[in-house]
Order: sequence, then structure tokens, then C-alpha cells
Amino acid sequence: MSLTRFTITAVRNLQTVSLTPSPRINILSGDNGSGKTSVLEAIHLLGLARSFRSTRLLPVIQYEQAACTIHGQVQLADGRMSNLGVSRDRQGEFIIRIDGQNARSAAQLAETLPLQLINPDSFRLLEGAPKIRRQFLDWGVFHVEPGFLPAWQRLQKALRQRNSWLRHGTLDRASQAAWDRELCLASEEIDSYRRAYIKALKPIFERTLNELVELEGLTLSYYRGWDKERELNTVLANSLSRDQQLGHTQAGPQRADLRLRLGAHNAAEILSRGQQKLVVCALRIAQGHLVNQAKQGQCIYLVDDLPSELDEQHRRALCRLLEDLHCQVFITCVDHELLREGWRTDTPVAMFHVEHGGITQTHDHQE
Ligand SMILES: Nc1ncnc2c1ncn2[C@@H]1O[C@H](COP(=O)(O)OP(=O)(O)O)[C@@H](O)[C@H]1O
Ligand SMILES: [Mg+2]
Repeated sequence: MSLTRFTITAVRNLQTVSLTPSPRINILSGDNGSGKTSVLEAIHLLGLARSFRSTRLLPVIQYEQAACTIHGQVQLADGRMSNLGVSRDRQGEFIIRIDGQNARSAAQLAETLPLQLINPDSFRLLEGAPKIRRQFLDWGVFHVEPGFLPAWQRLQKALRQRNSWLRHGTLDRASQAAWDRELCLASEEIDSYRRAYIKALKPIFERTLNELVELEGLTLSYYRGWDKERELNTVLANSLSRDQQLGHTQAGPQRADLRLRLGAHNAAEILSRGQQKLVVCALRIAQGHLVNQAKQGQCIYLVDDLPSELDEQHRRALCRLLEDLHCQVFITCVDHELLREGWRTDTPVAMFHVEHGGITQTHDHQE
């Protein structure tokens, strides 16, 4: 699947622009502050109804404009076209439209437009809190396992119920026990999806990483959020008084994590920024291969500021891996010369120049 056309209105400094990107490689170049990241941000908004730059959307809306809007036409894996629209005004009103209908949630958008972001903050996947790695993991599981979302919603409901019971004790013990059973069932289901996903991801990740950089002894492992030797209901029973003290449930899939280690050490404490970035790229590219294998089709890669922290050899290796994914890719850089050469002759590469919020296409992929 790919974006065949999109229009951006009142996002950051961007003029109202309509682009007809290449289904494969798109390079956006321009000076700092010209608006390159804002283009990726707009595509991200179209796919997830949120920004990757700020938690609030207000700063995304152009100064003195009432609302920002992004429209996109997507060619789905089966060849059908789908029209997406996302609009957000200053009062916080959100409108998500899919094929002329108002959509209920951003999950529907995400399903239509799976996005992968690689940007200068990507190293946080290794260094940051477990939540970031759980989001990474669950993105993958969500896109390949249709049972995941309902199970995850059941878990959230049961967990809210249990946490409220821990704090206020509103239900009698027997009624709460029924909720705990539901919690454990949803947890087992989520754990089995995540485990199967990591099992499939691992070999692809290792192969991809090998093509990018030599990091002998790097291992990826999955922690399910509670002791692997014991049943969750036993763990919950044993930690009840501590949970009551804290007012929330400590063990369970809401505590899952991915662990990247180099020998005995946490990889984030040993690797350079550049190496961390390559590890994250390998993880994200491996996810793309799994999405390609699943029926939903391919995802779109947003790669912001590609050359930063990568030398030429690694930049080329990364471009080759992105090219081999056969996905649509949007790459930004200051100097387009760095990315002009090296693509296979049959790969359609489109180049765009961004200047003061205006975008001109300098090389058409159909030329
Ligand atoms: N809400 C806004 N309205 C208008 N301009 C904005 C807004 N938010 C940011 N900008 C400006 O938009 C420009 C775009 O920045 P950015 O997309 O990050 O550029 P690049 O990635 O090319 O360096 C910046 O110069 C910034 O000052
Ligand atoms: Mg930028």
C-alpha cells in the first residue's frame, strides 16, 4: 500500500501543498526550518491522528489558522483506493474521515495506514522507559494479529476494574475474583500473541542488523511482565497486599518489556548513538517485513534526517534495506546530493525540494 496523493493544509509553516509521491522512494531536501519534518508530521497525523513532535496538536496548526487538515488517497494492498482525512481545530475538535464516513477511532486509521517512524529520537526505543518498547512491540502485534486489539481492550477494562477495587474496595471479593479471571485470560492471550510475534521478529531482526552493522553478541529478549515460572493468578494473589498499598496492579502484560543486551549489559549503556540508531532501524525494518508478510500489506516509512549520526557506509546500507522492503519511504535530508545516487535503476525515486514551506518536485519518479 502507498499514499498516491496527499494534500496538507495549515500544518506548521507549510503552504497548502498537494503531492503525488512515488510509490517507493521519496526524498525531501531543504534547509533547516524549511518544513521537511512538518511534511512527515502531516503524514503521521494522517496515519495516527497525532504528532510525533509534540503531545499536543495545537502547535501543529499554522499560526492564525483555525484548523489543520490532511487528506490522503491510499492505494491498498489489494489495489483498492481509500480516502482518508484528518482535521483538528484550535478547540480540540477532531474529525477523522475514512471513505466519506466519520471514523470512530484512530485505530481504524492506523489499520489503513501503518506507519514506521525513524528519526533522531529513535534511540529512545533502547534508552527510554519500557512503555516505548511495549508500544513498539504492540504496533507489530496489532498489525499482524487481528485478535490483539480486542484482547488488549479486555485487558484494559479488567485492569481498570482491579485498580479501582484495590483503591476503593467497591466490590466484594467473589465478584472481584471473576474480574481477576478475566484479567488473567486476557493477559495469557496477549502474552501468547506477543511471544509468537517476537519469535517471528527475532530472526528477521538479526539478519537485518547483520547487514547494517557488526554487533557481536547483541540479543533481543521478551519479558512478559510477570515471572515466567508462575501463573499470573498466583502472582496476583501473592502481591495483593503490596498492590493494595500502591493502589495498582504491579504484575501483568502492562509491565512487559523488550530487552536488548550486549553480553551482560544493557545495550543502551554500551552502544554509541549511531549504533543505537542502527539497532532501532533494524528493529523497525524487521517489523516492516512482518507487516509485508501479513495480509494487511505494506507500511510506510517516515525517515527524518537520515544522514544525521550515520556515516556514508551505514547510510547506504540503510537505504538498501529500505529499498529491499518494497515499501513507500519518505526520507528527509538537508543535502539531497547525499541520497541522489545509489538506488537501483528500476526503483522509482521522486525528489522534492522544500523551501519556506513550499514544495517543488525536482525529479519525477516517472521520468
Ligand atoms: N504552528 C506553526 N505555524 C507556522 N510556522 C510554524 C509553526 N510551528 C513551527 N513553525 C515553523 O515551521 C518551520 C518548519 O520546521 P521543520 O518542519 O521542523 O523544518 P525542517 O525539518 O525542514 O528543518 C520552522 O521554521 C518553524 O519555526
Ligand atoms: Mg527537520
